[in-house]
Amino acid sequence: MNFQPSFLDEIRSRIGLVDFISRKVKLSKKGHEYSGLCPFHSEKTPSFTVNEAKGFFHCFGCGAHGDVIGFLMRLENLTFPESVERLAGEAGLMLPQSSPKEVQREKKKADLYQAMEIACNLFQRSLQNGVNSRVQQYLRTRNLTSDAIERFRIGFAPESRNHLRSALSDRLISESVLIECGLLINPENGGEPYDRFRNRVTFPIFDQRNRVIAFGARALGEAQPKYLNSPETPLFNKGNVLYGLSTVRSSAIKSGRVVVVEGYTDVIAMVTAGIEAVAPMGTALTENQMLLLWRLSPEPILCFDGDNAGLRAAQRAADRALPLLKPGKSLRFVYLPVGEDPDSMIRAAGPTAMGDVLQNSVPLSQLIWDLETDGKSFDTPERLAGLEYQLERRAKAVDDAKVRYQYIQTFRSMIRQIGYTSRAKNFAQNGHKSNRVQTATRITPESPAKRREAMLLAVLIKSPDLLDEYAEEVGALEFQDKMLNEIRQTLMQVHTASPGLDTDALLSHLSRGRKSSELEKIRSSLRLIQTSSLSGREAFLETSGQEKDKGLILELIRGSRLEEAQQRYSRDPTDENLRSLQEFRRVALERYKENF
Ligand code: UTP
Ligand code: MN
Repeated sequence: MNFQPSFLDEIRSRIGLVDFISRKVKLSKKGHEYSGLCPFHSEKTPSFTVNEAKGFFHCFGCGAHGDVIGFLMRLENLTFPESVERLAGEAGLMLPQSSPKEVQREKKKADLYQAMEIACNLFQRSLQNGVNSRVQQYLRTRNLTSDAIERFRIGFAPESRNHLRSALSDRLISESVLIECGLLINPENGGEPYDRFRNRVTFPIFDQRNRVIAFGARALGEAQPKYLNSPETPLFNKGNVLYGLSTVRSSAIKSGRVVVVEGYTDVIAMVTAGIEAVAPMGTALTENQMLLLWRLSPEPILCFDGDNAGLRAAQRAADRALPLLKPGKSLRFVYLPVGEDPDSMIRAAGPTAMGDVLQNSVPLSQLIWDLETDGKSFDTPERLAGLEYQLERRAKAVDDAKVRYQYIQTFRSMIRQIGYTSRAKNFAQNGHKSNRVQTATRITPESPAKRREAMLLAVLIKSPDLLDEYAEEVGALEFQDKMLNEIRQTLMQVHTASPGLDTDALLSHLSRGRKSSELEKIRSSLRLIQTSSLSGREAFLETSGQEKDKGLILELIRGSRLEEAQQRYSRDPTDENLRSLQEFRRVALERYKENF
């Protein structure tokens, strides 16, 4: 929207600069001006001044300068029109409407917003009426507290083709509005319109002003798709929206931190744990979404699953971000333990564990480096040159000249370093040392359970001294993966029959009569254990090899037992099974805390 200069002047004159700023900054009078501590950089002596007569603020420390509109833009990371809109509201001014057509469009949108809001309320109410036991069970197993349910306005769309349709037509909302905002589906063959969301838990999606613009709706059972989202509508364009944005906005700006996760439930778990998080709508981050993120934090942290799909997603995000980088504005990356998402991780290990993982984020430049050097060795001039070429190609994707220059310099010095190390070591055996990314690409087991199970076997094989100590507990487990379960049994038998075997002897026992592909899974887990930093926990597990392995074994056993309890409860949701599940969770959490 284009604002008339006279309209902007009207805002400036109605809102006193000193008056407005002094609500956010403690000002004291100094001659013709007011001064105080600058809200835009941290300082101990005041260099921030406000001059009412000139209509400007100015900071001699950081150079921030502007009028009341600029002040609000900076303070809350708003765009110009957003800041104008807010101040106009404050000044009691109506926003000018540009054309009759625009007025018409706005009016139509208002109807759609209203329909979405009413639908959201209805869904919330049917969740609260709470007769559907599967919904209650879903909420319980997800640890969704009533606070979170209220805060995120989670609801339930009953199993009916005309629940919304009949409820909303009572309220004089026309069917065409319901169709246009995606709540009803209008069959192409001319049949009756019917409710889009049925028998699903609903997660409303909000715009920046906290209005409901869409829903993500999760199936309760195995219905496909798992999440059904609103279609694109005049209110909802999924590439421009971030789930959770309006909820975390002000606290993210304050803390300077925002984490990007994959799913709705991840956002909810993170926010409930006190970590500002948002999620795209099940797609890769778009450029617009990145720009939105940079208005909250200079370095948003992107969370990825440490498996191959996660790496590809990280690579895509990196490619898309490079051209957009600006001085001071970048991304950081975090890999979660393979198979975990933030939601499951917080449930199993607690918020501290998540906070700890975030502490270990790597900058974008490091991610690119890792992706390029992953699993390769650079022991010849040609290979080093190849690496240089690839990295330079990436650096050249940066549009901003200053940032591009720094990327080129950074990569050059990194290349010099490995060039030096590889010559020094002559790289007799292994080539470039593994890094986090590399370890993740090596392993591609299918499910978190399998990964955990393979890993547990691998640690035991790697540190056979520990077999005695944990034989009983491991013997009592029941692995989900059949093949791994057999290997577990064999391992226990071998250990009982001939205790004291070393890693190689154990492996050769286990490989008898097995396909190499089966053992490869365990071998790759072995490699993972040797090389990876399993999230931030390593710091404390680092003390000694044995202690580290013990910690890992305990954690994996706990993981398996927790999973068993979860399975038992979802097969058979009795109170007793729930209690035992909660007990496992509590223990997992406590043990986890002890470790820090
Ligand atoms: P996930 O399948 O990882 O979701 O998809 P999740 O949140 O972990 O699901 P739970 O834990 O099984 O409930 C991540 C995101 O991808 C989008 C959604 O936005 C979801 O939150 N998605 C996923 C869809 O849009 N449709 C789908 O069918 C699946
Ligand atoms: Mn999940």
